Amino acid sequence: MDFDFTDMPGPDKYRLLTNFVGPRPIALVGTRSPSSQNNAAPMSFFNVFSHEPPLVVLGIQTRGNGEEKDTVANIRRTGEFVVNMVDMSIAEAMIVCGVNFSSEIDELAFAGLTPVRSVKIDADRIAESPCSFECRLERIIDYPRRVLIIGEVVHMHVHDRCLDAAGRYVNPETYQPIARLHADNYITSDRQFVLSKPEALLPYEAGQLAPVPGGAVR
Ligand SMILES: Cc1cc2nc3c(=O)[nH]c(=O)nc-3n(C[C@H](O)[C@H](O)[C@H](O)COP(=O)(O)O)c2cc1C
Repeated sequence: MDFDFTDMPGPDKYRLLTNFVGPRPIALVGTRSPSSQNNAAPMSFFNVFSHEPPLVVLGIQTRGNGEEKDTVANIRRTGEFVVNMVDMSIAEAMIVCGVNFSSEIDELAFAGLTPVRSVKIDADRIAESPCSFECRLERIIDYPRRVLIIGEVVHMHVHDRCLDAAGRYVNPETYQPIARLHADNYITSDRQFVLSKPEALLPYEAGQLAPVPGGAVR
């Protein structure tokens, strides 16, 4: 089947894009409310965009009534947010944070999550999250009824158990983030596999060989 995205109602585009672009990582985004409470909401229009500068992106749409979500209003006001990564241990709490509560509700308290003071920004991080990134707003790009938020990572926290002994690389046995598939379907990263480039092709990487017709190595 083919779908013409230039002539399609919004909900259909949402369904197709979110059903087929996945799994999408989940940022449980922490911000500070106007009354200084914690606000947290999951966002799966999320990814890391570059490492130098270290940028993350969030895509956030308005509520059904056209109002801006608390996360966006808080980021506009404070210029800060925390991206907390989500694993199975906090999956259910993450879903609770995704309920459209009024802005006075502290989602972390409601979901039984523990706030911890951040190092470089005012918004708290979540103690139970395996890994959190403190971010400063780099820029907001406004579209009708949605925004693209670009944040610069200024500090990172990782549970020691999620790192190897040297503290350099991830420990895949203990860091297993969940990700969103379609609708209410999620996946966890407990079936990881190694896929390395074939050794015979490494000289191409080094620019030492040129391809010849038929794909043979010269
Ligand atoms: C797993 C998951 C991913 C979500 N991803 C997004 C997203 O990328 N963008 C968005 O606008 N809303 C997303 N939502 C919905 C928001 O989390 C929800 O609207 C929340 O109530 C917003 O809270 P806030 O008003 O405190 O910002 C997601 C919900 C869930 C459960």
